[in-house]
Amino acid sequence: MTTRMPDNGHEFVLVANRLPVDVTVADDGVVSWTRAPGGLVTAMQPVMAATRGAWVGWSGAPDLDAVPFTDGDVELVPVRLAAADIAGYYEGFSNDTLWPLYHDVIAAPRFHRPWWDDYRRANAVFARAAAEQVTPGGTVWVHDYQLQLVPAMLREMRPDLRIGFFLHIPFPPLEIFDQLPWRRQVIEGLLGADLVGFQRAGDTANFLRVVRRLTDLETRGPLVLQRGGRTVRAQAFPISIDARGFDGLARTPAVQRRARALREELGDPKVMLLGVDRLDYTKGIRHRLKAYGELLAEGRLAPEDTVLVQVASPSREKVGAYQQLRDDVEVLVSRINGDFATVGHSPVQYLHQSFPMEEMAALYLAADVLLVTALRDGMNLVAKEYVAARSDERGALVLSEFTGAADELTAALLINPHDIDGTKDAIVAAVTLEPREARRRMRKLRRRVLNHDVAAWSSSFLTALRSTDA
Ligand code: G6P
Repeated sequence: MTTRMPDNGHEFVLVANRLPVDVTVADDGVVSWTRAPGGLVTAMQPVMAATRGAWVGWSGAPDLDAVPFTDGDVELVPVRLAAADIAGYYEGFSNDTLWPLYHDVIAAPRFHRPWWDDYRRANAVFARAAAEQVTPGGTVWVHDYQLQLVPAMLREMRPDLRIGFFLHIPFPPLEIFDQLPWRRQVIEGLLGADLVGFQRAGDTANFLRVVRRLTDLETRGPLVLQRGGRTVRAQAFPISIDARGFDGLARTPAVQRRARALREELGDPKVMLLGVDRLDYTKGIRHRLKAYGELLAEGRLAPEDTVLVQVASPSREKVGAYQQLRDDVEVLVSRINGDFATVGHSPVQYLHQSFPMEEMAALYLAADVLLVTALRDGMNLVAKEYVAARSDERGALVLSEFTGAADELTAALLINPHDIDGTKDAIVAAVTLEPREARRRMRKLRRRVLNHDVAAWSSSFLTALRSTDA
């Protein structure tokens, strides 16, 4: 990656809380960047290349002054956030207020006034950075709940721009959104965009209802009629993954070999179940463990022949609700292992770690069943990765209805994770699925995932944004 100063501006600018790279600051202060390959980066690659676009985001490190640099066709523009701002804006308002509020208040949102001030200030920093990068009449695409005030702030600074916003997480019903003391300001922030995208049709409907109730603006179908004649369009664009890339990765001999080795290392269990999540209370990991523990206790799954591999990648570890969740999950895991392990075999393999994509692909291939039991989830890309990896058309997917993915992946075994008995039955059904039926379902799932990949998602959003009457 080379370092250079920004040029005269970019026709296309993406703004997200995080840059698509991870930063390491050595003891001597030397800064190095490594790529953090994510779906969004892959999706944006063609647009970025065609427009020589810029990506504005935070490095993940406090107080870091870094100059913009190029990575391939993309100019990366690091935004500086001070440690105190990160506590209020990122850990506080984004992840301890908005995140629980937008996920059905599974954890109690904390409404803390200084956090709101930090959120506003940080949003202004991102908006200013984007405004500096974009050419006259250019396009800015703002991402996710951390930056909901950016669209209106940008429009104020740069009325010449076309502005899109996409929310990666659910948008809550009015009755929940109403709790937010700053609900009107957030809506006004979003309405700065020309196009506001959501994961599900239900999120779009929630948003339009909130607009009708909290503002004096009129809505007509998907359009919000703004004062001064401008319209804002709200629409669902379900996000996806780089399905072909993932499919290809899972077909490589190295990944296939690793999948076989994993099974062996686990002691060749008859049944391997898999859970892959950020360690987040929205993911329903406790519900999953409860269902699994009961199945072992009742002998419907044989403890000596079954293993659940639970990857729980560390996340937001400074936020209290996440610390509490970690304790709860770890107590549950050790209780199950304490009750059902034999020397040399534990029915739960709990990994509080993150793994490279190759290892994830091997885990997906090795597993008989993937368990997605989220209590609320914008999309759940893990479900799509599992499907994309299974070119052998084997395996089964148990999928919570409360994920965006459930709208599309209807050939999965759909569950209500609050219904522990129903979840247990679905797990047993997945384990005992007739091979023909399993193949039929997996084929259907794969058709959907391979035909609606992340490139299709970004191009449909940008096409809709271009056709707004900005
Ligand atoms: C969710 C959010 C993203 C966020 C990611 C990881 O998928 O929608 O905006 O980047 O979680 O969370 P983190 O707090 O580590 O960025």
